[in-house]
Amino acid sequence: MKIQRVRAMEILDSRGTPTLQAEIVLSNGVRATAQVPSGASTGRHEALELRDGDPNRYAGKGVLRAVGNIENTLGPAVTGLDASGQEAIDARLLEQGSGMGANATLAVSCAVARAAAQAAGFPLWKYLAGSRQPVLPVPMVNIISGGLHAGRNLEFQDFLVIPRGYPDLQSSLEAVVRVHRTTGELLAKRGCVLTGVADEGGWGPHLNSNEEAAAILREAITASGASMEIALDVAATHFFGESGYRMEGRARSATEMADLLEAWLPKYGITSIEDALAEDDWEGWKVLTRRLGSRVRLVGDDLFATNPERLNRGIQEQVANAVLVKMNQIGTLSQTFDVIDRAKAVGYGAVISARSGETEDSFLADLAVASGAGQIKIGSITRSERLAKYNRLLEIEKWEL
Ligand code: PGA
Ligand code: ZN
Repeated sequence: MKIQRVRAMEILDSRGTPTLQAEIVLSNGVRATAQVPSGASTGRHEALELRDGDPNRYAGKGVLRAVGNIENTLGPAVTGLDASGQEAIDARLLEQGSGMGANATLAVSCAVARAAAQAAGFPLWKYLAGSRQPVLPVPMVNIISGGLHAGRNLEFQDFLVIPRGYPDLQSSLEAVVRVHRTTGELLAKRGCVLTGVADEGGWGPHLNSNEEAAAILREAITASGASMEIALDVAATHFFGESGYRMEGRARSATEMADLLEAWLPKYGITSIEDALAEDDWEGWKVLTRRLGSRVRLVGDDLFATNPERLNRGIQEQVANAVLVKMNQIGTLSQTFDVIDRAKAVGYGAVISARSGETEDSFLADLAVASGAGQIKIGSITRSERLAKYNRLLEIEKWEL
C-alpha cells in the first residue's frame, strides 16, 4: 500500500473562505480525500495556517501557496512510503518545515489515514483506534453563540448543552434539538430578531448580558423536559486587554472572572468551562484551577492550542484539567493523538473539537470515536458542515460499533 500520487485543491469552507482538500492515491488504486477546517477565534500559539496574502483573491485568504506546497514538496516527500506508517509519514511532513503550513500538512496527514483505512478494509475509526478502546463520544452542543462567531453580540462565545442520562446518541440528539427549538421560541418571545444563524449554527441573539444567555438556556432545558448540563466557551482571550477582561462595560481581573463563574455553577448547572481566562494568563489560570478545578471541567483551547509542550506545562503547573483538541492547531494526526493520549494518561479530559469554519468532511467523528476521548464539540445541530459529523456519529453508533 504505497503512496503513489498526492494532489491538492482549493475549496471553500462553511464561511465561504478558502481551505484545502488533498487527495491520496495508493499503488493498489485506492483513492481518498480529506478537507481541513479553519478557525476564527484563533489562539496565537496555533501552528501556522498558510494563506496567500494576495489581496486580489479572497481578501488575501486564498490557499494556492499551500496547494503548491502539497503538490511540489509534501507530496513528493511522502510518495513511495507505506500508507499504514502514519507516524513515519507525519514525521516526514514535519521535516519539510513549519513554513509549509499546518493546513497543508494536515490535509495530507488525514487523507493518508483515510486511504490506509480503506486499503485495510476498516471503518476509519477502527483503523485510527489501533490498540485504543473506541468510545462513542458525548457531544457538547452549541445553542447560543456570541463573541467572534456572532458579531460580538455577547462577550462569551458559546453557551452549550451536554446531554446526560440518555441511553444513546440518537436519543441525546433528539433532546438537544428540542432544547434548540425551545431556546429559539423563548428568544423570539423576548423580542429577539432571529434572522440567520451564527458561524457554528447556534442562535446569535442580542441580549442584555452574558448571564441572560445562561438563564435562557437553563429555562429552555427545563421547559423542554430535557436532562442537560450547561457548558461555556468563554473564549476570554478575545476580550482580554491591558486593563483586564473587558466585558459588559467594565474590566475584570482573573479573580473577578473566577468569582462570576463560580456563582454561575450551581445557579445554571454548569459542568464545563473552556478558556475562562486568556491564553497567556498562566497565573490567573492557576488561581482559577485551584478554586474551581475540583468542581468543574476547565478546558484549555487557546491556552493549550493542541500543543504537547503547552499541555505539559499545564499539567506541571496544575492549570486546567482538560484540553480542547483541534487537529489544525498542531498540523498532523500523530501529534493530535500524542496530545490526546498524554491528556488521558495523566487524568486530564480531552474534547475533540471542530472549528468555526468547517467542511463536509466527517473525519472528526471517526477521530473522536477512535481516541476514546469520550467528548466531542462540533457546534450546533443546524448547518450541514456540523451535521456531517453528527450524522457520521449516528452511523457509527447504528451500523459499525
Ligand atoms: P474557532 O472557535 O474555530 O473560531 O477557533 C472554536 C472554539 O473557540 O472552540
Ligand atoms: Zn474555544
